[in-house]
Amino acid sequence: MSGIRIIGLGKALPSRIVTNDDLSRVVETSDEWIRTRTGIRERRIARENLPKPLRTEHGPEDDMENPETCTALAAGAARQALQDAGADPADIGLVIAATMSPDSFSPSVACSVQEALGLPSGIPAFDVNAACSGFVYAMTVADAVMREMHIACALVIGADAVTSLIDFTDRGTCVLFGDGAGAAVVKMDEDSSFAGVLGASGKRSALSIPVGGHMLMDGRDVFRFAVTVVPKILAELEQKTGISCRDIDQIVCHQANDRIIEHIRRKLELPGEKFFRNLQHYGNTCAASIPVALTEMKEQGLLGPGTRIFCAGFGAGLAWGGLYLEW
Ligand code: UT7
Repeated sequence: MSGIRIIGLGKALPSRIVTNDDLSRVVETSDEWIRTRTGIRERRIARENLPKPLRTEHGPEDDMENPETCTALAAGAARQALQDAGADPADIGLVIAATMSPDSFSPSVACSVQEALGLPSGIPAFDVNAACSGFVYAMTVADAVMREMHIACALVIGADAVTSLIDFTDRGTCVLFGDGAGAAVVKMDEDSSFAGVLGASGKRSALSIPVGGHMLMDGRDVFRFAVTVVPKILAELEQKTGISCRDIDQIVCHQANDRIIEHIRRKLELPGEKFFRNLQHYGNTCAASIPVALTEMKEQGLLGPGTRIFCAGFGAGLAWGGLYLEW
């Protein structure tokens, strides 16, 4: 058996912490409503995207020397992942960035990171858009491309500055999201098992962002979708790997809403400690949510030799996917 193994992880988040109370100065909402419906307490918002009432003149948000764009966050996370892996930029043979909120349609975030980090010229680099399932898609695509092209080491990024696409007068969406990026250095390993499962249903457009427009979401429909699809993803992973959720060390769900995770946990009758959560600090960071969670799990000593993890992503498309990862 062989498959990709993560050998380094990194994250980058905007410096500005926006609490629920801060947002109650922007729209009619409250800390109590947001916390009880979602579990979110605060999120990070890129200084470029801060809504007017939260901007301060000549404050740190005017610091254009240090942008917090999607590309800048992606590059920051990638740099940290390389360092964590002890890898040299010259080792990287492939870059895939998952995003739905790039700074430009072209060049891709992946090509911009290739340039910013001085990665080798001539290697394949491209973005994938599978919204909040983006990192799961990108990892599965990386495994396939690395096999096909005999690539030893790759950089896989999940990055979204999605608050640039949020309408800060819409309280139904603006309280849920935050910006950020996470990255993984992966290597093809003969002794590692990896599994990816992917799916999509273009029929259901419960969450959309038209070009030049803002995010539109039917929250209740997305909620129903999420609590139905994640148990299916996990069952597929169990079947593919022969490992049951009970024996897996941690389940990393897309960090959208604590109520969604709790619903799934109860349905599967699994203990709370099995589900890593950091959404209380970052809200929903779309493609960044799973790699940022993995990075923080490593920081907290939850990932060691032999650790086995299931990840489950879901979101706009509608699209979904799962990963089996071994340490
Ligand atoms: O990556 C996937 C991303 N999407 C998601 O994860 C969304 C999944 N869905 C959800 O998490 C939930 O559906 C929400 C948290 C978005 C909403 O919770 P809900 O229990 O489904 O509330 P609702 O949309 O049915 O709204 C209930 C009430 C409404 O007022 P009325 O009509 O009952 O008077 C809303 O106008 O809550 C109101 N409301 C708010 N009130 C205070 C909606 N947003 C807010 C808000 N603050 N931010």
